[in-house]
Amino acid sequence: MLEVQKQLWHYLGRFLCISRANMSVDYSVRGSVAVLEVNNPPVNALGHSVRHGLKSGVEQAARDNKVKSIVIIGKGQTFPAGADIREFGKASKDPWLVEVGHTIEASLKPVVAAIHGTCLGGGLEIALFSHFRIAVPSSRVGFPEVALGLLPGAGGTQRLSRLTGLQVAMEMIYSGRHVASKKAKEYGIIDEIVTGDLMTAALKYAESVQGRTLNERRLGHKAVPNTDSVEKYTSAAMAQVKKKYKGFEAPVACVQAVRASAELPYLEGMERERELFNHLKASGQAWAQQYAFFAERAVSRWEMPRGSYKTAKPLPVRSTAVVGAGTMGSGIAVCLLSAGLPVYLLEQNDKFLQSGVKMIENIMAGSVKLGKVSMETAKKAATLLKPTLNYNDLKDVDLVIEAVYEDLALKREVFSGLDKVCKPSVILCTNTSTIDIDRISTATSRPDRVVGTHFFAPAYHMRLLENIYGTKTSPEAVATVMKLGKTINKVAVLVKSCEGFLANRMNGPFNTEATFLVEEGASPQEVDQINEDFGMPIGPFKVRDLSGTDISWRINREVAKALGTTITKETRFLGGNRYCGLNDDFFDKGRYGRKTGKGWYLYEKVGGKIPTVDAESEEIINNYRQRRQISKRKITPQEILERQFYSCINEGFRILEEGICNTPEEIDISWIYGFSYPKYRGGPMFYASQIGLKRIYERICHYHETCPYSIHWVPSRLLKKLAENDVPFSQWSNHVAKSKSKM
Ligand code: CAA
Repeated sequence: MLEVQKQLWHYLGRFLCISRANMSVDYSVRGSVAVLEVNNPPVNALGHSVRHGLKSGVEQAARDNKVKSIVIIGKGQTFPAGADIREFGKASKDPWLVEVGHTIEASLKPVVAAIHGTCLGGGLEIALFSHFRIAVPSSRVGFPEVALGLLPGAGGTQRLSRLTGLQVAMEMIYSGRHVASKKAKEYGIIDEIVTGDLMTAALKYAESVQGRTLNERRLGHKAVPNTDSVEKYTSAAMAQVKKKYKGFEAPVACVQAVRASAELPYLEGMERERELFNHLKASGQAWAQQYAFFAERAVSRWEMPRGSYKTAKPLPVRSTAVVGAGTMGSGIAVCLLSAGLPVYLLEQNDKFLQSGVKMIENIMAGSVKLGKVSMETAKKAATLLKPTLNYNDLKDVDLVIEAVYEDLALKREVFSGLDKVCKPSVILCTNTSTIDIDRISTATSRPDRVVGTHFFAPAYHMRLLENIYGTKTSPEAVATVMKLGKTINKVAVLVKSCEGFLANRMNGPFNTEATFLVEEGASPQEVDQINEDFGMPIGPFKVRDLSGTDISWRINREVAKALGTTITKETRFLGGNRYCGLNDDFFDKGRYGRKTGKGWYLYEKVGGKIPTVDAESEEIINNYRQRRQISKRKITPQEILERQFYSCINEGFRILEEGICNTPEEIDISWIYGFSYPKYRGGPMFYASQIGLKRIYERICHYHETCPYSIHWVPSRLLKKLAENDVPFSQWSNHVAKSKSKM
C-alpha cells in the first residue's frame, strides 16, 4: 500500500510539478517561485517532519535554476502556530528550528513568509528568519511560549527586538499576547498586508522581490535600535512582570533574553537565549504549564453516563435570558452580551431591574476602559440587552440562566414559572453553587432540559464555567452548555451533581482548615501570606472579607438547620464534625468584611481594598481561644500548606472515586480558572503528583490521627490505592474508571 502511495506521488508530482519534501511540507514550483506549503493539521505545528521539510525545501529551491524566490505558507487554517508541544520532553531530532531558520536566512533567493491564521511561537520565528513577511488582515502574530513556561527558543528573543525595538519586543514576549496583523505592520513585523487570495498575493510579492539584495533583510545582521535605553526598558518591563505575573519564572527570563539582544552580538545573544530556555525547560513550572495547556483542551472531551461529546449535538443558542439581576445575574448577562447574544434580563420589580441594568453598564464601561472590550462591542451589547418584568417575554428564547438567591424554594418557583412559558426546546440552566440539580429540575415537566451552569464571581472575569448534570439531564442539554462555554470565552468543565459540586466541595476543607489553623495559633495574616507565597492571588481570609463573614455565618446556620440543630457559642461539633466558631465572633461584632470596612482585617473605609491588621481582630481571636481554653501554639508554614492543600487534594480523590468527574485534569482546570490556582503548579492534583502520592497519603493519615473529628481527613480509598501501587499520574484516570465500575 505504501509503495503504491509513493508511486502515485511520484507520478502526480511529475505531472503537477509538486513533490513532497516529506509528508508535512508540499513542495511545488509555480513559474519562478518555489512554494513550501506546510501541511500538518490542525495547526501546522513545527514537528520534526515539518522542520525537515522546510529545510530540505529551501535547499531544493536553491538547487533549482528555474527558482528565483521562495514562499513559505500554511495549508488549511493557519501559518504554523508554533513548535509541536507534544514533542517537548522527548529527545529532539535534527534539524532543530534554529538550524532550519538559519538555512532560510542564508538563502540567496528571497524567502517570503505568507501569513494567515495564527503565526505563533516557532511559526513567527520562521517568519522572522524569512526575508519578507506579508499577511492577510485577519491574521495574528505572537510569542505565546511564556504561557507554556518557556521563552521563544529559536531566536525570537534576539530577532524581534531588531525589528520592533526593545520596548515592544519585551512586552510582546513577556505577555505572550497575540498582535493583529495591522498592529504588527505598525510595529514593523509585517511588510505588507494583502487582501484576496493569499497564495496569489504571495506569488506576486515573491516575484516582485526577486534579485533584491538580502543583507539588510537578514535580521541576524541588523542592530537593535535604541540600545542606550536598555536599562530603562528592562526596569519598566520587570516592574510590569512583577505586578502581573507574580511567581512565574518565564516572564522574567523573557525580559532577560530580550535584554541580551541589545547587549550582546547576535550569536552570543542566541547562546544566552538557549541557556535561559534550557533553564526554563528543566523547571517544574514549564512542565506544569504545558500540562495545563493540554488539560484545558482535554476537559472539552466530556463524558457522562448517557452520552459524550462524540455523540451529543448542541442545540443552537441564538437568544438567551437571565433571571435575577443581582451581582451574579448581571455578571452572567455581561458574558452573554459580550459574545453578541441577545439577553432578556428578568427581575421581579423595576427597582432591582434598573439596578441590574446599571451594574451591566458599569461593568461594560469598566471593561472598555481597561481595553478588555472594544467600544463597538459595548455599544452593540447595549442594543442586545432587553430588561423585562414579564416572564412571557421569555417564551421564544433558546436558553435561560437562573441566577436568583441560593434558596431552593425560590429557585423551584422560578423554574416552575419558566416551565409554563418557555418553548419545548429551551435549555433551562441554574447558576446554583451548591443545590442538587434534581431538586430544582423536578419543579418542571422537563427535567431532561435542566442543567447547572455555575459561574464564579466575578462572573464576567473568572473563566471557569462548571456545568452540572442531574440524573435526568439529557446529553443534548449538556452539549449545549459545554458549547455555550466556548462561545462566551469560558473554560467549561462537566461534573455530576452532588453537594458543592467539584470546585466548592474541594474548597470546603481548604477553607475550614484555614480557620482551624487560626483557632490553634496561626494568625490570619500568616495563613494568607503562606497561601499568597504559594501562588494563590489572595489568602483565604482576604477572600472571606470580600464575600463577607455574614455569608459564612448564614451558610453555617443553614447546615445546622438541615442537621436539626442550632449553633451556640459553645458549639464545637456540627454533625459529628469539628466546628470552629471564630467566624461567628467576627460576625457578632458587625465585622462583615470589606462591606462594613472591617472583617478579619481592618480596611481604610467601607468598601475599601487595603487590609491592615488591627487590635480588635487580634482581641477577638485571643478571647475566642481563652473561652475555649486553647493554648496558642506555633504553627509552621509547612503545616499550614499541608493542612489546607492536602485536605483539598484528599477531597479531590474522593470526587474522582465517586465519579463526580472523570479525570484529574477536570479538577485542576476547575481550580486554575475558578480559584486562580497558580498555573505554574498545574493544579492541586498535578501538584500532588509532583510531591508524590506516597508522601501525600502519609501526611493525610498523619492529620487524620492528629486532627480527629474532621471527615475531610479520612483518607480516600482511591488515593490509598494509587499511592500503594505507585501509579504514575498519566494512568490515574484508568484507575478512576476501574474504581467507579466497582462502586
Ligand atoms: N503543538 C501541538 N499541538 C497543538 C499546538 C502545538 N503548538 N497548538 C495547538 N495544538 C493542538 C491542540 O492541543 C488541539 O489538539 P486536540 O484537538 O487534540 O485537543 C488542536 O491543536 C487545536 O487547538 P485548539 O483547540 O487550541 O484550537 P484553537 O483554534 O482554539 O486555537 C491556537 C488555535 C491559537 C493555535 C491554539 O491552539 C494555541 O494557542 N496553541 C499554542 C500555540 C503556542 O503556544 N505556540 C508556541 C509553542 S512553543 C514554540 O513554538 C517555540 C519554541 O521555541 C519552543
